[in-house]
Amino acid sequence: MKVLIAYYSLTGTTKKLAGRMAEMLKCDVERIPMFGGRKLLGDKYDLVIVGTPIWLYSPTFPASRFLSKNKDKMPKVAFFCTYQTSIKKSFEKMERKCGKKPVAVLQMMGPEIGTDAGDQMLKQFIEKIQK
Ligand SMILES: Cc1cc2nc3c(=O)[nH]c(=O)nc-3n(C[C@H](O)[C@H](O)[C@H](O)COP(=O)(O)O)c2cc1C
Repeated sequence: MKVLIAYYSLTGTTKKLAGRMAEMLKCDVERIPMFGGRKLLGDKYDLVIVGTPIWLYSPTFPASRFLSKNKDKMPKVAFFCTYQTSIKKSFEKMERKCGKKPVAVLQMMGPEIGTDAGDQMLKQFIEKIQK
């Protein structure tokens, strides 16, 4: 299965989680730029994992735009986000943007990344993806 992790990150937290995930999955990883992100080419990936910080209880606009722009190029999707207090219905918003139910979702607070508890959550997320 060919997997891409596409993430947006302003201050590095989501980037750090994307990096650990990419190490475990041994897959492609790329940063979504704040403005004018690219459209994925062809049907190269079987699964695209989209990651974003939460801003105002919502996924960020670069990640949302990436999801709607590439909805035809992602046979399967999974989502992850980093946050400080609450993500409310962010995963449902991401689902609506691409019109697809995620095979797995993961939410993690910055300080949890790299801890035993955080790595355990990450492993469970990856197990769901690989089913
Ligand atoms: C403008 C702005 C709005 C935010 N809104 C929320 C929020 O609604 N809920 C929350 O839990 N965290 C919120 N945060 C915190 C970020 O989601 C959190 O720090 C995240 O891990 C940052 O990711 P990054 O370092 O990859 O940019 C907000 C941060 C910023 C800058």
